Amino acid sequence: MFISFEGTEGVGKTTLIRKIYDYLELQGQQVVLTREPGGTPMAEQIRSLLLSVNHEESMAHDTELLLMYAARAQHLQQVIVPALTAGKTILCDRFTDASFAYQCAGRGLSKEKLQLLNSDFVSHMPNITFWLDAPTELGMSRARERGALDRFEQEKATFFEKVRSGYHELWEQQGERIKRLDATQSPKQVFQQAIAYLN
Ligand code: TMP
Repeated sequence: MFISFEGTEGVGKTTLIRKIYDYLELQGQQVVLTREPGGTPMAEQIRSLLLSVNHEESMAHDTELLLMYAARAQHLQQVIVPALTAGKTILCDRFTDASFAYQCAGRGLSKEKLQLLNSDFVSHMPNITFWLDAPTELGMSRARERGALDRFEQEKATFFEKVRSGYHELWEQQGERIKRLDATQSPKQVFQQAIAYLN
């Protein structure tokens, strides 16, 4: 079982993932908790490059997309494929849907570019994806409370509106896999919404 979690900043993904991790472990499942970009030492280095605000030049949108997929290729090979082969459950904080929402809907890159990368480099897709949806302002204020903002979190509200519409578009197209959770509810209620889909 491969489960991914998506949403704009500050919608409570980390809290939900921890709760689901504990829940599945109690059921006796072997669970792997991981994230993108990142999840392996090399992919975490790529993550630092992607999130850093200390570059002397602005990052080209294509560079951003390709670095996401470089990290993903490494993550698939080192973590996701071995875990799935061993029959483990994977909880992955973001996956390819984030590339659609952020790089296509947010940055304006073409869907064809993404499709090409997905068909060539993504061997496994999640069985289920939880999209935590909340007004972007709510999430941004939570992100600001957490402290220093990374390169994505520093984007304007209009960017996050586009990202949210990107997720909405994916959800409308792929409702079988992508489950929308109302992330304005309490962490406990969001967890209950998710569990209803897992049982
Ligand atoms: P996080 O805040 O969930 O840890 O994710 C790091 C940032 O990376 C977040 O702002 C979303 C962004 N991102 C993309 O833009 N494209 C992707 O494909 C992934 C996986 C993340």
